Amino acid sequence: MKIISHRGASAYAPENTLKSFKLAVEMGSKDFEFDVHQTKDGLLVVHHDYSLHSTSGKDVKIADLTYGELKKFNVAWHFRPDRSFRCVPRLEEVLDIIGPAADWLNFEVKNDGNVYPGIEEKLLAFIRSKRGMFEKTVVSSFDHGTLKRFRELSHDLKLAYLGHGLSTMLLLPALKKARSVRAVNFHLALRIAFKINISRIKKAGFNACVYTVNTKKDALRMQAIGVDGIFTNHPDILGKWTLKG
Ligand code: G3P
Ligand code: CA
Repeated sequence: MKIISHRGASAYAPENTLKSFKLAVEMGSKDFEFDVHQTKDGLLVVHHDYSLHSTSGKDVKIADLTYGELKKFNVAWHFRPDRSFRCVPRLEEVLDIIGPAADWLNFEVKNDGNVYPGIEEKLLAFIRSKRGMFEKTVVSSFDHGTLKRFRELSHDLKLAYLGHGLSTMLLLPALKKARSVRAVNFHLALRIAFKINISRIKKAGFNACVYTVNTKKDALRMQAIGVDGIFTNHPDILGKWTLKG
């Protein structure tokens, strides 16, 4: 089972910051998930929400800021153990850190309602510009239109399905949608990660990865029911890795 660091080692450093990704690498992570957005002047950046409210306390949208404006906000404001200034990193900076260590990279594209027109072309060009990156990449999105556009742009890019408000009842239609874009992975929330659902997903031919698994007990339960990967804020969740030094 893959132990996928979720927004870096985000239990120990402010999520989706360079500090958090460096820490994940130092802890031995090989599999990484992070969230991709686009600034007003077209730069790809890494942050969870569309707005900076939850991380900086300022309710401004990434889409409305140039990177020059965006980088002035402290997105470690929410992280009580260490609020020292950290800015939203450029995607390029994140990949400079995790790329050499990575076996598997999950770019989660936040693009509900196509808020960032053209992000698919831009991200694909970025991935293709880095030697060996395309093979390690899985692109996921909660926005089905975004997955469809990626599939139109590339027949062999690996895609992962994500569904807002997915439930056991809605699993079958979701599997259909995942099949329609020829996804290879199906990513689902821990609250619906029951053995029966994992079996259905796997029988349909997808790898099943579960978010967000932050206790050892849940991690072991996921392993026991055949989950292929868990997204976790604690890359050391199974005691596999510890921070050196
Ligand atoms: O990609 C898995 C997971 O990160 C999706 O949910 O809200 O944490 O981005 P969220
Ligand atoms: Ca995510």
